[in-house]
Amino acid sequence: MEIISNPTQVEIKNAAQALKDGRLVAFPTETVYGLGADATNEKAVSRVYSVKGRPTDHPLIVHISSINQLGKWAIDIQEYAIKLAEEFWPGPMTLILTRSEIAKEFITGGQESVGIRVPSHPVALKLLSEFEKLGGVGIAAPSANRFGKISPTSSTDVREDLGMYLEDTDQILDGGRSLVGIESTIVDCRGPNPIILRPGLISSKMIEELTTILVSADLNSKRIRVSGALEKHYSPKAKVRLGETADPGEGFIAMANIKTPKGAIRLASPVNIEEFARYIYNNLRKADQSKLLNVVVHCPTGEGLEVALRDRLTRASNGN
Ligand code: TXA
Ligand code: MG
Repeated sequence: MEIISNPTQVEIKNAAQALKDGRLVAFPTETVYGLGADATNEKAVSRVYSVKGRPTDHPLIVHISSINQLGKWAIDIQEYAIKLAEEFWPGPMTLILTRSEIAKEFITGGQESVGIRVPSHPVALKLLSEFEKLGGVGIAAPSANRFGKISPTSSTDVREDLGMYLEDTDQILDGGRSLVGIESTIVDCRGPNPIILRPGLISSKMIEELTTILVSADLNSKRIRVSGALEKHYSPKAKVRLGETADPGEGFIAMANIKTPKGAIRLASPVNIEEFARYIYNNLRKADQSKLLNVVVHCPTGEGLEVALRDRLTRASNGN
């Protein structure tokens, strides 16, 4: 597999052609890196599942270049969903909608819905528009990590996680570190009220303010196959614990204003919640690289990005 740093327009064009030819191309998005395949190519998509080691009944998100492509993938789209797309795309939000004919079972995990997102990373957007110029309709891309592990926020993470499973003709596009650092908010827009299936940077407050519709509690999460909804997910090798103090020898991650407990190994001191999220997966990876057995994360309270962070960290803490 080839890693292409800061790809030029020509290199992005070539990557789009590679996707069209059925190869896999990992690419940066503002949330995390994705492992891309032509969303209409069953063979390419099945390789995504095997490279990730992911069960095939877990649906993939289809990435498109703009809201103009939405009608190809989804039908019966409600007004509030259009509002959300117009406001937050390109950006870290995935909409779950009723699938069209083009969204086949091998994308949707056999469900009647499809997940769609327009990412905002410039490399992702260029790749998508070049792909569409070649007649492509969408790029299926789960996070470019092995199933159940933490998502990659750099091309190095992708290579470390998937390098041994990718083929020579696959590619990894490098576009620097993902700025958000945790996966997109997933909003089920099929019912009268939006339902958040996975919290992210786009919060339920932001959704309510825009649509003036209440966001429902996620009562169905057990019935919908969202891999991120598994209780154990996003796990490093080290045991993650949410708490305020750490014992000597344990890793410790907390806001900069919180002191390191005596003897604990400070892994990060973010100065705000955005920085906390941006580096959280990288910091958990660092813990593994330093062969730490335990990491304590002092997770800030709050109702914005904090909700998403608590969600991922709680799952990580269930993961060992
Ligand atoms: O930020 C992100 O969303 C990243 C970047 C690469 O775009 N992608 C990502 O993909 O996190 P993945 O496959 O790792 O997680 C997508 C989640 C999965 O939990 C999947 O089950 C859920 O979205 N999902 C996809 N389509 C769905 C559908 N039709 N109904 C319910 N959940 C769906
Ligand atoms: Mg994932």
